[in-house]
Amino acid sequence: MTIAGWARSLAMVLAFACAGVAARAQDAKGVVTDPAILEKNRKENAECYGCHSEAGYKNPPRADMDMVKLRALLHDPAKFDGSNHVGMNCKICHGQPYETYPHPAGLKQNLSPCSECHATKSLRVEKQFEDSVHAKNLKDAFTCQTCHDPHVYKVAQKIGDPRVIVAQDNQMCIDCHNSDLRYSKFSAQLSTQKVRPDLDTLHKWLPNARLHWQAARCIDCHTPVSKVKSLQTSHEILAKDKAEKNCVACHSQQSQLAARLYRYAATNAAADLGFTNPSYLGSAYVIGATRNPWLDWGIIGAFAATILGLFVHGAIRVVAAGLRGRRAS
Ligand code: HEC
Ligand code: HEC
Ligand code: HEC
Ligand code: HEC
Ligand code: HEC
Ligand code: HEC
Ligand code: HEC
Repeated sequence: MTIAGWARSLAMVLAFACAGVAARAQDAKGVVTDPAILEKNRKENAECYGCHSEAGYKNPPRADMDMVKLRALLHDPAKFDGSNHVGMNCKICHGQPYETYPHPAGLKQNLSPCSECHATKSLRVEKQFEDSVHAKNLKDAFTCQTCHDPHVYKVAQKIGDPRVIVAQDNQMCIDCHNSDLRYSKFSAQLSTQKVRPDLDTLHKWLPNARLHWQAARCIDCHTPVSKVKSLQTSHEILAKDKAEKNCVACHSQQSQLAARLYRYAATNAAADLGFTNPSYLGSAYVIGATRNPWLDWGIIGAFAATILGLFVHGAIRVVAAGLRGRRAS
């Protein structure tokens, strides 16, 4: 290799190294541990809350504001303090100029996208997201923020309790899939606008669908298990014909939920109580995942009885309709 060649290689190695450091520095952008900075952020955020909170709205610091607009822009300090982004300064994402009121025009463009601080993770999430029905069919209107409210959202790992995780994650989907108004804003992107299909009707085949919404996540049926180990969830929401319909996928000892929804509960329990993953699953959560064969058979019996019940019910209705028909004629 020539000297120029060596120099070029060296420059490339250095460039990669610097890019790596830069990426890490960006991932760590704004991570706040210093108590002095935390206190400064708390004070500065309190100024924003002076208007952008329920308390601020009720007791506005000035009289010349558009109160109708402000009403739709209120935030809950307690929720923010329970989110991933607790301790951060509002202005890190929104930009310094929001300090002054009236806010200058055109500040929205300054808003930091998720990828600015979560470069590595975003790159991997984005690939899955781009393969999802939403990204493919609803185009640019659908972004990370459409599901993730950065002021409230908390990652499952830090929640642990499956019920709380389920409530948070399903709310993201239900907020839109149960709202004609919001759904139609997005389905307007389709070449022929679609009327919102009703969630209960769609999942009629699932016994106690409403109970399932409290115990299992939409994404547990609507995404494949993530192939990328470092990602906790798959973002690849598939078309409906690829959704999980198989009861045994969850209601069995090999429940896929062990690797998904319950992984944090299981690790937390293992750390706290010395439980192993399967015994935790068996002792507490999904029916069918127990280690007690009598219990499992009982449950399978109950399933069978439910299905038989539906069948008998249907048969009775058919017969009754027939009888009614004969009487009418
Ligand atoms: C004196 C009251 C007041 C304070 C303090 C205030 N805001 Fe606002 N803000 C408003 C009002 C009222 C609106 C509604 C739109 C308008 O009148 O500009 C608004 C709008 C916004 C919007 C949405 C508008 C847009 O750009 O589309 C953001 C984001 C925002 N404020 C962020 C902040 C942040 C961050 C802080 C703290 C650094 C802050 N605000 C401090 C009153 C305030
Ligand atoms: C991690 C980044 C981040 C931080 C920190 C952050 N925001 Fe936001 N904020 C966003 C994003 C992204 C949006 C746009 C959401 C959307 O498009 O629906 C937004 C939207 C807003 C809006 C306008 C729309 C709405 O939903 O209300 C207001 C007002 C606002 N933020 C205020 C605040 C205040 C006050 C704080 C500090 C307590 C804060 N933000 C901290 C990222 C952030
Ligand atoms: C200005 C920088 C910044 C922006 C923009 C930002 N975040 Fe964060 N985010 C952080 C920091 C700092 C933390 C806390 C450090 C940590 O826990 O890793 C964090 C934490 C998180 C976590 C928890 C990390 C974990 O694995 O425990 C998630 C998830 C997250 N953010 C998602 C988002 C999403 C989604 C968006 C876009 C809507 C976003 N962030 C925008 C800076 C940012
Ligand atoms: C259709 C809704 C939806 C969209 C769009 C979406 N997410 Fe998520 N995301 C979720 C759900 C649900 C979870 C699971 C949350 C949890 O419990 O941790 C999640 C989890 C995450 C996590 C934490 C778990 C992990 O795997 O590390 C990150 C980081 C994240 N999303 C980033 C993004 C980014 C970046 C985008 C945009 C490219 C995005 N998300 C778009 C719904 C969505
Ligand atoms: C137990 C697994 C399971 C769970 C949990 C689940 N789904 Fe489904 N979902 C399915 C299956 C399977 C289909 C396909 C049904 C069919 O084609 O008959 C479906 C269909 C759908 C469709 C099809 C829409 C259309 O255009 O026809 C949507 C949207 C949907 N589900 C959203 C959700 C949401 C939102 C949640 C969470 C509240 C959820 N699902 C929870 C399995 C599930
Ligand atoms: C802001 C609105 C919005 C949010 C949030 C949202 N969706 Fe959707 N979703 C839509 C729209 C609109 C469509 C129709 C797209 C189409 O038919 O091509 C759709 C399509 C779907 C489909 C495909 C239906 C089919 O015809 O194959 C599934 C499955 C689905 N969503 C599940 C989810 C899940 C799970 C979540 C939460 C993680 C979620 N959605 C969050 C608006 C939303
Ligand atoms: C995504 C995983 C998943 C799938 C797929 C799934 N379930 Fe469930 N199911 C759960 C969870 C979690 C619970 C709540 C914990 C429990 O009671 O076992 C539950 C609860 C139940 C219950 C108990 C309701 C009650 O009244 O206590 C019945 C019955 C049930 N499922 C039947 C089914 C049938 C039948 C199917 C297939 C058509 C199915 N489930 C598919 C996860 C799933």
